[in-house]
Amino acid sequence: MARYRTAVIACGTIGRVHARGWQDVPDHPVAIGACADTHPDARREFGEFFGIGADHRYADYREMLDAERPDIVDVCSWHRQHAEMTIAAAARKPRAIICQKPMALSLGEADAMLTACERNGVSLFIAFQRPHHATWLKARELIRSGVIGRIQQIAIDDGGNILNTNSHNIRLAGYLLEEARPQWVMGAVERLTDVMERGIPCEDRCLGVIGYESGATLLIQGELAGSRAAIGEPGRRLGQGARVIGTDGMMEFWTGRPADKDLRSDGDMAQPEGSSAKYNDEFGVVRYMNATTGGWVNVEATWHDCWAHQCQQVVDVLDRKLDYDHAISNAAHGRVVTEIMMGLFESARRRRRIELPLLTKLNPLSLMVTNGDLPVEWPGAYERRSRLVRGEGMTWHEN
Ligand SMILES: NC(=O)c1ccc[n+]([C@@H]2O[C@H](COP(=O)([O-])OP(=O)(O)OC[C@H]3O[C@@H](n4cnc5c(N)ncnc54)[C@H](O)[C@@H]3O)[C@@H](O)[C@H]2O)c1
Repeated sequence: MARYRTAVIACGTIGRVHARGWQDVPDHPVAIGACADTHPDARREFGEFFGIGADHRYADYREMLDAERPDIVDVCSWHRQHAEMTIAAAARKPRAIICQKPMALSLGEADAMLTACERNGVSLFIAFQRPHHATWLKARELIRSGVIGRIQQIAIDDGGNILNTNSHNIRLAGYLLEEARPQWVMGAVERLTDVMERGIPCEDRCLGVIGYESGATLLIQGELAGSRAAIGEPGRRLGQGARVIGTDGMMEFWTGRPADKDLRSDGDMAQPEGSSAKYNDEFGVVRYMNATTGGWVNVEATWHDCWAHQCQQVVDVLDRKLDYDHAISNAAHGRVVTEIMMGLFESARRRRRIELPLLTKLNPLSLMVTNGDLPVEWPGAYERRSRLVRGEGMTWHEN
């Protein structure tokens, strides 16, 4: 029986994934009460699929928040709206907000989100869902039990840019390192084309090293390493995952998903990137080796929807069964990811190692682009995700 109502802001790909996450929590403690999207087709398709009556669908999300007074708000719009929407939602005092990654475009925005939630008594969560994979949860237990010794280095190699897919892997590193404090960041970016991601400038390639208080380092190779070859093939990129090198062994994380025919349906909803169920139905894969294993050992755990596990923790915090500080996706961890990403851009801007805590509150990559410090060789702005924009639009710049 539902005890809480959530309202979903933005009914695109990830909005559906959040809604399924709530539906997949055992005993269904959360009802999907309302939704808002500026695009009429998006909110109609979403409303029909998730059984939200027409009188609970809104074009203006502030109107929805004022009329519905939900217990929980899901912020599922594009990067550049996360801070504005979270702050607007917090002002209406729901009990919790779960906001998509990346948390914000700058450390200043992230801090404003935290302040808004703190002063209104709202528990803020940032949706880095993959540490909630059953096998990844199990893997951290194994690391704690010492199967690979003390972590010395975590290497990540995703093909996307820092703010988008690499942010997931930076979060994974923090989770595996028991939320150790990052102490310094050194980074470089290449931006030869005028590339944008969901309306904001991003880099073509990125290299970074982060030093943690535990002595471990995180190596970031954004669009620099490997290929999408099959598992086991040399040079294969781990993508959404990481290679963890310990004093006594090694562990590898990556993600897989069922064949398209086995994914849950999106019904009649527009799905330019394929079924959004690919995120709910994804599974984590982990293997490790050490001196006694005689080769790779696969980590086994019963599958669950990682989003539902994340939602369950939100409910457990509201029910006072879980301390907010112990929730895997609490916003403090999201802030650390933001600080590392912005520190990396600041290191590229200042051409030096940056000690943390980071004092720069704006986005140093955007500053370099605006100032002409990163001149492109091949001019002409283009949007990496144009295929997601509905109608005639090719970009979200005006949204
Ligand atoms: N955690 C993950 O694995 C994961 C995966 C995909 C996307 N994301 C994140 O989710 C966010 C959204 O991405 P997406 O792929 O769902 O985009 P999308 O384009 O599929 O959906 C975005 C929706 O937001 C709506 N929208 C725009 N402005 C609005 C406004 N002012 N009010 C209400 N609705 C508005 C659009 O009409 C659209 O329907 C991004 O920040 C992205 O980083 C996360």
